[in-house]
Amino acid sequence: MMTTAGSPVVHARAPGKINVFLKVGAVMEDGYHDLATAYQAVSLFEEVRATPATDFSVEFCGSIDASGLATGGTNLAIKAARALARKAGYRGGVHLEIEKNVPIAGGMGGGSADAAATLLACDALWGTNATKDELLGIAAKLGADVPFSFTGGTAIGTGRGDQLSPALAKGKFQWVLALADFGMSTPGVYQELDRHRDRHAQDIFPAQHQPSVDANVLQALRAGDPHMLADVLHNDLQAPALHLAPGLAKVLQLGEENGALAGILSGSGPTVAFLVADADSALELQVALSASRLRVVRATGPVHGARLIND
Ligand code: C5P
Repeated sequence: MMTTAGSPVVHARAPGKINVFLKVGAVMEDGYHDLATAYQAVSLFEEVRATPATDFSVEFCGSIDASGLATGGTNLAIKAARALARKAGYRGGVHLEIEKNVPIAGGMGGGSADAAATLLACDALWGTNATKDELLGIAAKLGADVPFSFTGGTAIGTGRGDQLSPALAKGKFQWVLALADFGMSTPGVYQELDRHRDRHAQDIFPAQHQPSVDANVLQALRAGDPHMLADVLHNDLQAPALHLAPGLAKVLQLGEENGALAGILSGSGPTVAFLVADADSALELQVALSASRLRVVRATGPVHGARLIND
């Protein structure tokens, strides 16, 4: 624990993610969709620094413009801190300073990473000594992707996406990410998928169908082979997201014409993730996309989940 001007500071870091495979099943009783997804944590990290306070507050720093984000009670990091305080019977608060590196509303789980890092930071700051399972339990109530940012690595998610089982993965995959200059609403993209399924009904999607992760995806991850993984990347949210934001089709095409093995919408978008064979192709693609005035960042995965950092 560091101290700044006499106050203890706890620093925690948590990663963003790419869903390399995402199948959406039926709507469940709680309104969420039954999912089968393969998550990969990638090297874009949210940095959360927590200091003691009487109340709960959050501020953002870093190079990403976070001026549109809520800083009140609806902010997921604040919700995370409050949920842990409630569970642990802690009566104080916390001030959170969050350095954002995961695109905002981009489908890469940035808000979820804020919540995961906040749980870890507050647990250490307050000495609540919650077990990993207790923190994961709180994480799952905060959002479907929060448990995965907590555990990181490579995992299969079922249920809402919060029932995790680790998956074997070898080596590092290289990604080039094309960022959009707009955000997309996750519920909005799920609703568009539902509307599409209502229109085209049961012949393409039997209601009782239980989604599962394609065995070839697991094999590609185990082999650490980007060519194999490129062949099986899949996201059921891609078609409805492209329907809502048709310009993304051009981005996908541009990447595939400039050396990407394959492109996929990340989560509910609008970030487009391109899988490349190696660092040289990553650079080439980065240059080509930047020349088309797209904002581009590179990332590798899998990486570790939420952890405390000794500054
Ligand atoms: O849990 P999270 O806040 O990330 O989910 C955002 C929204 O995405 C939910 O309110 C729901 O509309 C949709 N969603 C879903 N099924 C899932 C995950 C998310 O319908 N498995």
